[in-house]
Amino acid sequence: MKWTVFLFACLLIDAVHSRILHKPHEFLCGALFVFGDSLSDDGIEVADESYGFERTSNGPVWPEYLQKMLACDRYVNYAYSGAKSGRDNFYFPNWSGLLWQVERFVDTHPQIPSDSLMIMQAGGAIDFFTGNNKTQEVVENIHEAMNVLLKTMTAGTILVLNIVDQSSAPGVLAAEESQVLQKRISAMVGEANTQLTHLVYDSELGLRKKAPAITVRVLDLNGVVVRAMTDLNTTEPFTHHTKDTGTRSIYQYAYHDLWHPSTFVHHKIAQAIVRELQDL
Ligand SMILES: *[C@@H]1O[C@H](CO)[C@@H](O)[C@H](O)[C@H]1NC(C)=O
Ligand SMILES: *[C@@H]1O[C@H](CO)[C@@H](O)[C@H](O)[C@H]1NC(C)=O
Ligand SMILES: *[C@@H]1O[C@H](CO)[C@@H](O)[C@H](O)[C@H]1NC(C)=O
Repeated sequence: MKWTVFLFACLLIDAVHSRILHKPHEFLCGALFVFGDSLSDDGIEVADESYGFERTSNGPVWPEYLQKMLACDRYVNYAYSGAKSGRDNFYFPNWSGLLWQVERFVDTHPQIPSDSLMIMQAGGAIDFFTGNNKTQEVVENIHEAMNVLLKTMTAGTILVLNIVDQSSAPGVLAAEESQVLQKRISAMVGEANTQLTHLVYDSELGLRKKAPAITVRVLDLNGVVVRAMTDLNTTEPFTHHTKDTGTRSIYQYAYHDLWHPSTFVHHKIAQAIVRELQDL
């Protein structure tokens, strides 16, 4: 009898203990730097250190939610709407692209504080809409951007968010020959994301191996977005211009416009990033 009580007590302690062990730790963030395209652009402030063009959602975008959740001492968002993976924008050449953002950042930050968190939302989704097979070019651009960052850092964390497959966005569904476009985009995003994973995790050539003092991770943003949109209407963006719009209708829509997710999806993205950081 005594033994069963003892055993039970042991099991209880064990259960409590493992719960403590599984408790995610808090991520201390001195500075948060964000790079990306319109998925990450938080608009422009009337201040001297502000980047980007516009916020494309019906509420905060993920970096803004993330900054609230992590309460970093500093937050600088370099993302520009229309950014391609290299230096170009979709609309004009030579500046605002992802690689340009990173180069601009290291030019102005010769020393990066060791408690910095860099989040690179891998641009590339936009590259896939122009020209044919851009997989190689996109991966090379992201590789170069990562190398530029790693050269300047001595410690800290880099989180790469992989490319979101926009092949089922309302913008593609509304396009001519949408099925052909859908297949093409899906294939390129799939390939690029696979290569991105290798780029970081490859046991010999991976960036983690190359820069062991820096924590480098890839987060499957594409998977996060797909899960966040489950149970929401993804066929059309929300509009209040209908006769039967109700007070809660907006909560049922995944898209703010033909390409960009609603703020509910952005909130889920920020939550997923926090979970990833707590598990580092
Ligand atoms: C962009 O850069 C290239 C190469 O440096 C240059 O030849 C071109 O004139 C630039 N284009 C614009 C619009 O500034
Ligand atoms: C893109 O090109 C690569 C070779 O550079 C090829 O292996 C791949 O299958 C192509 N992908 C698509 C979607 O056409
Ligand atoms: C999504 O919303 C549109 C516009 O309100 C509606 O016509 C369509 O039936 C909805 N789709 C689904 C799958 O609920």
